[in-house]
Amino acid sequence: MKAVVFKAPYELAIENVEDPKIEHPLDAVIRITTANICGSDLHPYEGRADLDAGMVLGHENMGVVEEVGSGVGRIKVGDRVSVPFNLACGTCRNCNHGYTNACLRANPSGQPGAGYGYPMMGPYWGGQAEYLRVPWADFNLLHLPEGTEHESDFTMLSDIFPTGYHGAEMAQVSPGKTVAVFGAGPVGLMAAHSAYLKGAARVFVVDKEPDRLKLAEQIGASPINFADTDPTEAITEATGGFGVDCGIEAVGYQAHDATGEEHPEMVLDNLVKVVRATGAIGVVGVYVPQDPEAAYPLAEEGRIPFDFGAAFTKGISIGTGQCPVKKYNRELRDLIISGRSTPSWIVSHEVSLDQAVTAYDKFDKRLDGYTKVLLHP
Ligand SMILES: NC(=O)c1ccc[n+]([C@@H]2O[C@H](COP(=O)([O-])OP(=O)(O)OC[C@H]3O[C@@H](n4cnc5c(N)ncnc54)[C@H](O)[C@@H]3O)[C@@H](O)[C@H]2O)c1
Ligand SMILES: [Zn+2]
Ligand SMILES: [Zn+2]
Repeated sequence: MKAVVFKAPYELAIENVEDPKIEHPLDAVIRITTANICGSDLHPYEGRADLDAGMVLGHENMGVVEEVGSGVGRIKVGDRVSVPFNLACGTCRNCNHGYTNACLRANPSGQPGAGYGYPMMGPYWGGQAEYLRVPWADFNLLHLPEGTEHESDFTMLSDIFPTGYHGAEMAQVSPGKTVAVFGAGPVGLMAAHSAYLKGAARVFVVDKEPDRLKLAEQIGASPINFADTDPTEAITEATGGFGVDCGIEAVGYQAHDATGEEHPEMVLDNLVKVVRATGAIGVVGVYVPQDPEAAYPLAEEGRIPFDFGAAFTKGISIGTGQCPVKKYNRELRDLIISGRSTPSWIVSHEVSLDQAVTAYDKFDKRLDGYTKVLLHP
């Protein structure tokens, strides 16, 4: 099959690799109809997270079931399915409690949590390819209505829609609340959308990319461009000095200033400033325990010195981590089916697998409005 193969930082290839097979009775093989490129894919792409050469990329996958193992019962050949980016066993202690982001059995390294085509998440190939092997298929796969309707909406269910929603959940968004979202990439935009789904009264979205801020404005959010405005002053003033109830971090460890210089603590500091005393922050932007290319030595070991003293004094709750996709994907799917949500509004480009190398380059450089790219093998 054809696949997007990681060679080295900034070097990908579209290659023919071996077709995935049923390796275990509980596996399924999916024919991919859509696989997205994610901001997280840029971490190995930029050499900021170690990935072995030869890995097939892609953790945002959907498609049609091509083959199932002898132990698979719920999922049938021909089913249209969404594949959560967390790969989970369904029977361990964490899976039993709904924490599929921290499955204790799926990652052979012993680290809790596994996924497809991603550093430290196990040996599993990704779905930026024609086919994908899905272990524990009955547990992991989400049924979608058959056909091709809502393809570019449903494709957000594997990661960023649930992840944005998880950010809003950890930030304790509820009806009437004010919310500040930092980062207007796909995850930040989904977090802003989710905040409205949860009944937020006002949502501020901070970034420096005008095309991304325009997308935030389209759903009624107040855009703040940190290249020309201090976001903490603007949000404090707009809330009468009180601050927002909820803050969502959708940037991660490569947070930078308007000149592009990295300050990994910058967004956390800004959130602690703008969230009111006793408010809550949801951190879905990724922070890593090792980053040899970090801006300063402490951060190379994942030690990010942000204003924890102020956070404590204000009594702010902080939630972090990978999204347990299965906790939300069924209900978010049903919002799409009922027409209450159309997350495809952020899709900027839909291209074939052959164009993936160019798409990665432009998405990485944020050129030509590349916000969310869908690959169709
Ligand atoms: N927790 C999870 O389960 C999960 C899942 C998916 C993605 N993520 C992570 O979420 C983060 C965002 O993903 P994405 O796909 O939207 O990535 P992205 O790189 O497309 O977007 C990040 C945005 O942050 C903006 N930004 C940079 N510095 C900023 C600052 N100081 N203030 C405000 N905005 C700033 C950038 O301009 C960019 O638009 C990444 O770290 C990604 O790895 C986490
Ligand atoms: Zn992703
Ligand atoms: Zn498990």
